[in-house]
Amino acid sequence: MAPTLMPVQEILQSGVVPKGYLLTKDDYQLGNDGPPSLMDTPTIDFSLLSSSSPDELAKLRVALTSWGCVQLVNHGMPLSLLDEVREMSKQFFKQPLKEKEKYSSKGEDLEGYGNTNAVQRGSLNWNDKLHLQVYPEDKRQLQFWPENPRHFRTTLHEYSKKNLMILRTLLKAMARSLNLEEERFFELWGDENEDNTHARFNFYPRCPMSDQVVGLKPHGDGTAITMLLQDKEVEGLQVVKDDRWFRVPVIPHALTILVGDQMEIASNGVFKSPTHKAVVNPQYDRMSLAMLFIPSLDKEIGPLEELINEERPQLYKRLKDYGQVYTQSIPSGKRPIDMMKINY
Ligand code: OGA
Ligand code: NI
Repeated sequence: MAPTLMPVQEILQSGVVPKGYLLTKDDYQLGNDGPPSLMDTPTIDFSLLSSSSPDELAKLRVALTSWGCVQLVNHGMPLSLLDEVREMSKQFFKQPLKEKEKYSSKGEDLEGYGNTNAVQRGSLNWNDKLHLQVYPEDKRQLQFWPENPRHFRTTLHEYSKKNLMILRTLLKAMARSLNLEEERFFELWGDENEDNTHARFNFYPRCPMSDQVVGLKPHGDGTAITMLLQDKEVEGLQVVKDDRWFRVPVIPHALTILVGDQMEIASNGVFKSPTHKAVVNPQYDRMSLAMLFIPSLDKEIGPLEELINEERPQLYKRLKDYGQVYTQSIPSGKRPIDMMKINY
């Protein structure tokens, strides 16, 4: 059966879940898939990272080396801005298809509105998205930026600027937590006029067969860092640790940080890019906004030399444009980062 590329929201209206969306034995499985427990790691107080608290830096290092995922609180963004972003996202997806289709991705477009199931193995994602590049600013393709709700563009602009500031402080703290010079990870992502930032609004419509579909299939992010704003009420993000799934709790004012593959490479495997997925709720729609920080494609990235030594030899190759490796590996069903391992 050919996969339908209709937005998932529209499929839902017919009340029938097409077979292509149902999980199959080809989908990623873990050895011991019991009901997932709640990830119970402490949150990180961002204001203490800015002031270089040794305890907070140690907490950050432990979280990112063991989970690759952490929730930041006290990051300075007002809850009202977070709520505004969540609200405008919901309002965008709530509009009639005709309105949203003005911003549809066409052909090979990465950006724009639509169903995310171009290349897939196994079942399809129960997910619609609106994907927009926000940096470098001169790469913005405003034809994909919604004009409704009216403040969408200005709010996204403001939110992106604040995310950038948080990213810079976070990258410095991550470097310091490994006793590196604080600007070391700027080699990976350091300049908003060169490096890329994409905003990906995810929408996961509720699904009556939620236990048989998946919102976003298990994956690692191809980014340096992903900063995720989760839905304020509806839980859905899960991460793998020690071959088990854990639910990432909803903390309304927190930002969820995910280490991306390119950070795992730059840190020579010290920081983990976690396998994660989004599950779907039977009763409630869920949204999220992922800010994807991606190094410039012209730049060669690779393990930092300070993190290569006798005990920890270089684990990953150096390369440019990891996005290509990422896309090419999708049909294999393997994690793209594995292709980057020297002893693969
Ligand atoms: C992503 C992602 C998770 C979520 O956009 O890459 O993993 O909870 N999103 O929406
Ligand atoms: Ni992801």
